[in-house]
Amino acid sequence: MNSDELNAELLRRRSALSVGGGQARIDEQHTKGKRSARERIAAMVDQGSFHEVDAFMTHRHSDFGLDEKRFAGDSVVVGFGLVDGRRVAIAAQDFTVIGGSFSEVQAQKVCKVLDLALASGVPFVSLNDSVGARIQEGVWSLAGYSELFWRNTQASGVIPQISVMLGPCAGGSVYSPGLTDFIIMTEGISHMFITGPEVIRTVTGEQVDPDTLGGAQAHASISGVAHLTAVDEAGALALTRRLLSYLPSNNVEPPPSAPPGGPGPAAVLDRLVPPDGTVAYDMHDAIAGIFDQDSFFEVHGSYAPNALVGFARLVGSVVGVVANQPAYLAGVLDINASDKIARFVRFCDCFGIPLVTFVDCPGFMPGTHQEHGGIIRHGAKIVYAYSEATVPKVAIITRKAYGGAYIVMSSKYIRTDLVYAWPTAEIAVMGAEGAVNILYRRQILQAADPETARSEIVQQFRDRFGSPYAAAASGHVDDVILPGETRAKLVAALRFLSDKQASLPPKKHGNIPL
Ligand code: HXC
Repeated sequence: MNSDELNAELLRRRSALSVGGGQARIDEQHTKGKRSARERIAAMVDQGSFHEVDAFMTHRHSDFGLDEKRFAGDSVVVGFGLVDGRRVAIAAQDFTVIGGSFSEVQAQKVCKVLDLALASGVPFVSLNDSVGARIQEGVWSLAGYSELFWRNTQASGVIPQISVMLGPCAGGSVYSPGLTDFIIMTEGISHMFITGPEVIRTVTGEQVDPDTLGGAQAHASISGVAHLTAVDEAGALALTRRLLSYLPSNNVEPPPSAPPGGPGPAAVLDRLVPPDGTVAYDMHDAIAGIFDQDSFFEVHGSYAPNALVGFARLVGSVVGVVANQPAYLAGVLDINASDKIARFVRFCDCFGIPLVTFVDCPGFMPGTHQEHGGIIRHGAKIVYAYSEATVPKVAIITRKAYGGAYIVMSSKYIRTDLVYAWPTAEIAVMGAEGAVNILYRRQILQAADPETARSEIVQQFRDRFGSPYAAAASGHVDDVILPGETRAKLVAALRFLSDKQASLPPKKHGNIPL
């Protein structure tokens, strides 16, 4: 063949790639409300920026009809591109080829692009739509999974890894997304489960609806496996782009800054917190009034809503925001809130994102259910994560900081750099009523007028601990500030701390209570 013919041959082969397992299979995807792997990549990256690798790789197995199912590229499309001009590595499972099943070749391709991403310090995004391990390949498929899980673990804390769920993800394949930093699920069409409805029916006889078992809402609000959900694929890919806009490319680069934004509606801040500790308010209003307008990007919003975590911008710079949410369960810390906060704090620390924590918490959730569920083990994760984090840390106590909650929520002595309190702050071992009932029970019972005696002592406790000044007088908080001053104080504090140097004692790794 001459050069023209050779070039034409390449173009012919290349155009065959675009239909994966065939146009009929792509049409089936569209009927299900799904796109093909290449359509998804095109929707996610900057136009024309994607460069595919390993497009011609095929599997080498013949058993159980695999000879007839040999397609160039096999069941995944991998390569690199740009999102908002920033580099990203991508793997998109191709459901049109044997259901996107995880084959030896799929593993080799995904591992190759993940290796390149790790070496180059570039985030890795995986678009998932697969029936799971390719059964016909037996141990070759399983070995491939192991290779991928190992790499996900090596890359953890070095480059951000994001999993976008756009179809089924069944069996052991859930553990690659499970090892990544963020999981985004699409409602209705994405499902994640270790054992699907069919397996459950076989083993237990129970009929389970796939959405109830492992759909987007189940994982976003009950299991906490999913961090974000979208109503459709376009929404899931848009969320992926937005999430990437807050993340650094790797653990030595700073997060991308944006043009400084103006503050949100701060006018409400000075009257936001009701002095009566039994009256709720929404911590979102504090966040909205302090950070750049509309910049708060909440993650894990439907899971443990008694805590809030997410990214925001302060004069254009990315910060990680952690907060108690008094509008839900009074902002109490429970098992799920502990896991949510600890995981987010560790993510921010891995990637050099400063932490700003808002505290209004009556303590840990009491009860047998929480104790038997391991609140001791889970709550310890928060204090461990904050204690280990060396990024700049600033805390604002807006109202209650009682007992264990005071300590674990970024208190000064677990090395928070600066702790500010609003005038509404109450820093105490416990609420005044509870304290008086424990310490003065006998005296109150013996008093001529027990109710008057109780309220007098409660008032004495409130006078002592119901304001931030006892803590400020002893240096346990660094300053008392007006709520309306918070933005300016944070800007100054984080600017001051921006070159912070801190290190941990030499060790192989710590042993966070998991
Ligand atoms: C190879 C498979 C497959 C598999 C399905 N297919 N599962 N091929 N290995 N594991 C094939 C089907 O035969 C079909 O091929 C094509 O993929 C699409 O599958 P459908 O069933 O037609 O798709 P759909 O109706 O959309 O249903 C999707 C599904 C269902 C709900 C996910 O396929 C399903 O329940 N599959 C089993 C999922 C599962 O249990 N996986 C776990 C495997 S064990 P044709 O050519 O007929 O269209 C595992 C362990 C790994 O993953 C452990 C690692 C640590």
